[in-house]
Amino acid sequence: MARSEGWGVIAEIRNLRISFPLYQGRKWALKGLDLTLKGGEVFAFVGESGSGKSATGYAFMGLLPPYARVEGTILFQGRDLFSLPPREWCKVRGRQISMIFQEPMTALNPTVKVGRQVAEVFMLHSGLDRRGALDETVRLLEEMGIPNAEVRMEDYPHQLSGGMRQRVLIAMAMAASPRLLIADEPTTALDVTVQAQIISLLKRLQKEKGTTIFFITHDLGVVAEIAHRVGVIKDGVLLEEAPVDQLYSKPLHPYTRALLEVLPHWDRETRTFQLPRVRERPSAEGCPFFSYCFHANSECALELPPLKDVASGKVRCWLY
Ligand SMILES: Nc1ncnc2c1ncn2[C@@H]1O[C@H](COP(=O)(O)OP(=O)(O)O)[C@@H](O)[C@H]1O
Ligand SMILES: [Mg+2]
Repeated sequence: MARSEGWGVIAEIRNLRISFPLYQGRKWALKGLDLTLKGGEVFAFVGESGSGKSATGYAFMGLLPPYARVEGTILFQGRDLFSLPPREWCKVRGRQISMIFQEPMTALNPTVKVGRQVAEVFMLHSGLDRRGALDETVRLLEEMGIPNAEVRMEDYPHQLSGGMRQRVLIAMAMAASPRLLIADEPTTALDVTVQAQIISLLKRLQKEKGTTIFFITHDLGVVAEIAHRVGVIKDGVLLEEAPVDQLYSKPLHPYTRALLEVLPHWDRETRTFQLPRVRERPSAEGCPFFSYCFHANSECALELPPLKDVASGKVRCWLY
């Protein structure tokens, strides 16, 4: 496992709240997220489907739909992203922050050869001409572990395997040498061997280029392979944050412990945990894990505890 050794802060999320009033009324999909990302680290953002992980990634990219309501701030290298004029944000997006999206097939244009799709990113961000961009594309595709890159770049997306498509997407995201890479479930659609290859590719990029990776996943098994620090989110609330070793050896929040202990309850289809409910949750207030928690008392139903510093991490639970 790579180490993150005291790098400076690259991004700070402060009290980020996101809702989709058109679809979900007054419900917040993200309920006041506070997170700090350090330069050069892999931060894993772990949670079940619908917990608000992708919405957080989209907020970084300025790509939430116009009907989304967004409050709070994201500071990136000290700059408040939400107050940047749109043209400035376009310079940050793609060049300094880029994202690998959750659905690899929809993120590529099916009618354009993959080499050209990568070359376009070079032309846009590095001002290279067509020839120069195509040369750089071959180099980058090789660096991403695509054999015969010169030949494969003439392929259309459907001619490549899932793993090769994911490598092309990572190449597109890395073309401008971003400081921060948001990887939204980059291995979910892949089989286990290919998953491992993509993880080791991302690890290498983090080590060799010092790219900070915000690694979104629902899979705590993958997290151990790649992350330095982990944040556990449920229903839009961050419940625990800790260095990866500590999270696995001494998980603090009952929800984190459940995630680690009850992997057999994992439903692959819905990507949620089918845990037995211990009791009903009386209201939307309080802890999102209330219905399942063996430690819960009435306070937990009524009030969400603050995120407290414990050991080298943070936990949001009245037990601490
Ligand atoms: N574009 C959108 N329009 C409406 N609702 C959305 C949109 N994106 C996300 N949501 C809602 O916000 C919540 C969080 O979604 P998301 O961030 O995609 O979760 P995750 O990535 O953790 O699975 C979900 O309830 C989802 O239905
Ligand atoms: Mg998602």
